[in-house]
Amino acid sequence: DAVERGEFAHYMLKEIHEQPQAVADTLEGRIAGGKVLTQIFGVDAEQLLAQTRAVHIIACGTSYHAGLVARYWIEQLAGVPCTTEIASEYRYRDPVVQDGTLFLTISQSGETADTLAALKLAKEKGYHAQFAVCNVPESSIVRESKLVLMTRAGPEIGVASTKAFTTQLVALALFALELGRAKGLDGERYADGVRQLEHLPALIVETLKLDDEIRELAEAFASKQDALFLGRGTHWPVAMEGALKLKEISYIHAEAYAAGELKHGPLALVDDSMPVIAVMPNDRLIDKLKSNLEEVRARGGKLYAFVDETVAHGLDAARVVVLPAAGEIAAPVVSTIPLQLLAYHVAVLRGTDVDQPRNLAKSVTVE
Ligand code: G6P
Repeated sequence: DAVERGEFAHYMLKEIHEQPQAVADTLEGRIAGGKVLTQIFGVDAEQLLAQTRAVHIIACGTSYHAGLVARYWIEQLAGVPCTTEIASEYRYRDPVVQDGTLFLTISQSGETADTLAALKLAKEKGYHAQFAVCNVPESSIVRESKLVLMTRAGPEIGVASTKAFTTQLVALALFALELGRAKGLDGERYADGVRQLEHLPALIVETLKLDDEIRELAEAFASKQDALFLGRGTHWPVAMEGALKLKEISYIHAEAYAAGELKHGPLALVDDSMPVIAVMPNDRLIDKLKSNLEEVRARGGKLYAFVDETVAHGLDAARVVVLPAAGEIAAPVVSTIPLQLLAYHVAVLRGTDVDQPRNLAKSVTVE
């Protein structure tokens, strides 16, 4: 066990640090000459993508958060309507399916009972095809799907998912770009997205250098009962993933909100004992997010901002963690890394069983 973990105290920390390689492996052989290779999704992919008029994403847990990020990408890059839903809700709500809808499941294990049952149900519902993003070849979900793109994260031992999530984002970005190309995405934007993916392993290496800074920051969280995570756009699901990591392994109650919803409830919780974590790269919502954060500051909330270097200057926060600047595709991946590290270090300080948190399983194969 100690041998497999090598120099790392826990599998989770090892897996966090494996992300540059896992992302590079997931990209390997999937891009050539600045273009995503369409056949990586399966035979008939070219034709199926051209005919796709909507996308319906189903997943659970961390994989669901990857699907929420993908929804923004698919709508922004491909102009195709996309919804993302939790498998356990989908399978009991009598979904109505419009012509030309692609059914997309996301699963690390490929065996999650609710996701697999949703996929089986979907096969009776007249979807145009089933597409799986999965980390385990030969898994049930892969076998049941017509189109497949494997994440190549390698075995993930820590119950709290890390490298599976970031590789899912990469696989989903490849898909959103390729669907975009099939739907007439502007060539420059497409090329820029592909370039961002190609630079991602190096950007993650850069981001992992924040480890010491985050370990120190974690001390401010170790004695807290609650934490609030805020983001907007693709960074709302990143905030959700950050909150999930923290609650899973440190047992601190953590919630994520889309920052625009702050005034509709969670602001009532904000006082000087409530840490508020904002994930905010420089995107088109940055000014709106800054004004949401003013509302937090005005109520004495302790604000921790994870920002990129282009917006760090003059930000009024208790603590600013500066991330490398990244574009619309790379930023959600980059911003996830410090939140994984934060959850990890807080859990270590609290002395929990980081790799096997109480009451949780790596793969939930019963309903
Ligand atoms: C469990 C795991 C999570 C995972 C979820 C979905 O709850 O603890 O880490 O995100 O299942 O699993 P899947 O294998 O379908 O991605």
